[in-house]
This record gives sequence, C-alpha cells and structure tokens, in this order.
Amino acid sequence: MSDNHRLLVKENIESLGEDINALSQIFFRELFHIDISLKSVFPGNVIFLNRKFFNMLSTFKNVEHLEKISASVEKMGERHMLQYGAQLAHFEPMQEALIKALKDYYGAAFSAELENAWNSVFFEVSEIMAQAMGKVDRRHVARTDHDATGYDNDLLADVGGVQGVLKVHQRFYDVIFEEPWIGQFFYGKSKEALVSKQTKFMVAAFGGENLYTGDTPAFMHMHMFVTEEMIRLRQKVLRQAILDEGCSDSVADRWLKVDDSFTESIVKTSVDECVLKCLGQMPVTARKPPNYTS
Ligand code: HEM
Ligand code: HEM
Repeated sequence: MSDNHRLLVKENIESLGEDINALSQIFFRELFHIDISLKSVFPGNVIFLNRKFFNMLSTFKNVEHLEKISASVEKMGERHMLQYGAQLAHFEPMQEALIKALKDYYGAAFSAELENAWNSVFFEVSEIMAQAMGKVDRRHVARTDHDATGYDNDLLADVGGVQGVLKVHQRFYDVIFEEPWIGQFFYGKSKEALVSKQTKFMVAAFGGENLYTGDTPAFMHMHMFVTEEMIRLRQKVLRQAILDEGCSDSVADRWLKVDDSFTESIVKTSVDECVLKCLGQMPVTARKPPNYTS
C-alpha cells in the first residue's frame, strides 16, 4: 500500500520535468498566503526558491528506499532545525501548500488516489524529520540568517559566468582525479560527466539558471565516508583551481563560502554514519596512503 504511494509520487515528480519551476511558484504563492511569516525562512528570489523546492521534491523521489535512508533523513531534519530556521509547526503549512499547488497545477488530473499518495509520503518523511528535530538541543539552534551565503548575486559574473565555473571545475577535477588520497573516490568515474554536473550544480547555487537535475549532495554522498580532513583538502584544491583561473583571493573566499554551505550534509565522523541504499552495497572510503603529504 505504502510502496504503491511511494511509487506514484516518484512517477508524478518525474513526469514534471522542467515544469517543476511552475509548480514551485504556485507552491510558494500558496505557502506565503497561508503564513506570510514564512518569508523569513525562505528569503530570496524565485531562482533560489525554485532550487529549494527542487531539493524538497528530490527527497520525495528517494522515498522508495525510505527505511534504508532514514538516517540521512534524520540528519536532514536536524539541519532544518539547527541551520534553516524550520520548526515543527511549519510542516502543516508546507503540506497544505504542496497539496494546493498540486491541485492547482494538475487540475482534474490530480486524482483522490494521487492526493492520498502525496499526503502519505509527506507524512512518512516529515515524521522522521520531526522526530529528529524534537531531539535537537535548542541551545544550538542558529539565530543568524542561515542563507546569507546564497545571496551573493554578483558571484557568478565575478567568476566569469558559466564558462568561468566550467574552467575552474576542469582544473579542479584534473587535480582531484590524480590526488593520491581523495582521488580514490573517483576511480572509474567519468571526469567529463562530473565536471558538467558540478558546473550545473554550482551555477544554480550561485543564483544562475538551474540545469542540475541530480540528487542533493546529502543523498549523492550518503554512502561515502568523507571526513572533515578530506573536505579541507578538497577545498584547498578548489581554491587553487579558482586562483589559477585568474580569480582574486576574495572571489575564491566567496566561492568557498557557498561550497562550504554543502559540506555539513556530506561530512561524517564515523563510517557507521554512511547510509546504504541496497543490500550488499558497501560504504565507500579512501585510505590515506603511507607517508602521504597533500
Ligand atoms: C517533508 C518535508 C521537507 C523535506 C523533504 C525537505 C527537504 C529539504 C532538502 C533536501 C533541502 C536541501 C538541503 C539539505 O539537504 O539539507 C531543504 C532545504 C531547506 N528547507 Fe526543507 N524540507 C522539508 C520541510 C521543510 C520545512 C517545514 C521548512 C520550514 C518551513 C523547510 C525549510 C527549508 C529551507 C529554508 C531550506 C534551505 C536551506 C538552504 O539552502 O540554506 N523545509 N529541504
Ligand atoms: C571530499 C569531499 C567530497 C568527495 C570525496 C566527493 C566525491 C564525489 C564522488 C565520488 C562523486 C561521484 C558520484 C557518482 O558518480 O557515483 C561526487 C559527485 C558529486 N559531488 Fe561530491 N564529493 C565531495 C564533496 C562535495 C561537495 C562539498 C559538493 C557540493 C558543493 C559536492 C557535489 C557533488 C555533485 C553535485 C556531484 C554530482 C552528482 C551527480 O552525479 O548528479 N561534492 N562527489
């Protein structure tokens, strides 16, 4: 029953294609109509809002394996409370706005069966997030604007537009693929495909057009044991690639600030935090070579 709901929602999201932005706009219109104070949780222009909506829907696309990814969804709940300013009371208006938006968008094609499926999937996911949010120590809840990094509207132009981002990533992955330690994660991967995906991802994160259709970093890396030290090493390589492309130190700082907003959802302190999607899958990790110096 519940599997069927999950499948229906997944297919429904996949059938949206590029129209996801149209649905996003109706969703935020409805959400702010229900509770205008949520504008402070979701500041920014349409492009930023569309990305956030896209992220939420990409979680619902992964619910086929919800039991297997629940640890990842719990962590996401914690991030919502600690960093994004979300509260338990926000789930209800979100759900209401989502269902209204779907009804408005699909019209008569949004059957009672689909409505049921969406409600049940939203409930399943939000239950896991809310449980984790309930356990968060409120003393750690951030008071600052979680998303200040997202509104550096000039950054894309200052790094040379999409072409500039592409060139930095070409340099970056040339080095990373040869890097003796974290390069191990990339054995057998297509450098070209990664350069292209990473470029689409960062262009969207810088406020440009969103052409990225992959998973959020949290899901993409959930089976990878990536440590804080690896993150720092990766950022060192990235900084060098930005500078080598002729950008200034301050542009590199601004780029890394945006990059850093994603690392929290990837980094792990123990291999047990890796989340595996299917039976037989092993956590992916990299052993530091003997006498290694970066
Ligand atoms: C079942 C419900 C929800 C799902 C599946 C969901 C999913 C996501 C995902 C995947 C992200 C991307 C960042 C990350 O992985 O940490 C995200 C970001 C965000 N979510 Fe949610 N979310 C839900 C409910 C909520 C609620 C109730 C609020 C508060 C009203 C909220 C506010 C935000 C904000 C503000 C961000 C942006 C963070 C940033 O880019 O700085 N979400 N959400
Ligand atoms: C040391 C840290 C990191 C390591 C070792 C790492 C490793 C990887 C690997 C191995 C893949 C390929 C996955 C696959 O094709 O199966 C990948 C994909 C990707 N990573 Fe990372 N990553 C790291 C940090 C980050 C950060 C901080 C971001 C975000 C700014 C990020 C964004 C992405 C994106 C967008 C993709 C492409 C996803 C897709 O195929 O749709 N990664 N990463």
